[in-house]
Amino acid sequence: MPMEAIKWLGDRVRVLDQTCLPAEEIYLELSCYQEVASAITQLKIRGAPAIGVAGAYGVALGALQIKATDKDIFVEELKAITQALASTRPTAKNLFLAIDRLWQIAKKGGDVGQIKQALLDEAVKIHAEEAEATRRISQLGVGLIRDGATILTHCNTGALATAGYGTALGIIKQAKDESKKIKVLVTETRPLLQGARLTAWELKRADIPFTLITDSMAGYFMGRGEVDLVIVGADRIALNGDTANKIGTYSLAVLAKENDIPFYVAAPTTTVDPSLASGDEIPIEHRSPDEVTHIQGLRIAPDGINVANPAFDVTPHQYISAIITERGVIKEPYGEGLGFP
Ligand code: MRU
Repeated sequence: MPMEAIKWLGDRVRVLDQTCLPAEEIYLELSCYQEVASAITQLKIRGAPAIGVAGAYGVALGALQIKATDKDIFVEELKAITQALASTRPTAKNLFLAIDRLWQIAKKGGDVGQIKQALLDEAVKIHAEEAEATRRISQLGVGLIRDGATILTHCNTGALATAGYGTALGIIKQAKDESKKIKVLVTETRPLLQGARLTAWELKRADIPFTLITDSMAGYFMGRGEVDLVIVGADRIALNGDTANKIGTYSLAVLAKENDIPFYVAAPTTTVDPSLASGDEIPIEHRSPDEVTHIQGLRIAPDGINVANPAFDVTPHQYISAIITERGVIKEPYGEGLGFP
């Protein structure tokens, strides 16, 4: 059965619980917006495009939960629901864009019943658009991968993260679909091990040869000439191309530049934030210290110590060789190419 990270079931949304992978494939059926919000916060559903899709379904579900038939009261209650969903995770632009698209529809005309239906239709549309964008990204980006290449990737950017084919991992899967003989180096992606748990799971299912390494091994392999290119995803891209992605991405980009290795970012334009001139303005999520002091519930550090846990970092645009969106393979200057002149 093809894996679907997120699926609308008519009156509820089904997600594959990514916190249980790879040990168990558990599907959760979420029937209220509160459950969707907590699934996003807890990373049961994660990855920028997938968070956007989940947020959209969350708003649609929340609308169905509202009993009021008076439009003003309905809109007021829906506002609180959009705010609750928007406060789950701060960095991925896709979440805010999706919620705003639904909010704009709610504020338009029609009675409450019509608005509820329009919100649901829009959420389904957002899901389809994100899936289609990842297909295009994969087809456009595959040209960057030569036969025989070894690609290093970070975090998880596949079907799990995108509710579609994948961004960076979509390009890698496309290369395999086109019979290119590729190898992948997968960073484990501390602290929550999205690489070791999720990318390894997806690549194994896709029958793509890969080697799992710890994050700190990347320089070793780059320095030995064993990496041909790096491709990662993104959570938010500023107009100048500065890119927020999973913590550790910036270090990989600096290492890549030092070793003359091309460093690519793959993301749909829904990840681009045209309101931000540079990456300095991107909000970075800081998560619980427990994620650093514990691995899968097991404490690995002493109690009562100082711990930092920024979930993302920003890679300045000068380290990025190109950004692949559904519009094309874009090089500097980024603003116009990203669709925002
Ligand atoms: O904290 P996560 O697992 O949601 O972080 C995910 C990433 O950083 C991904 O690289 C990014 O969202 C792109 S997913 C196509």
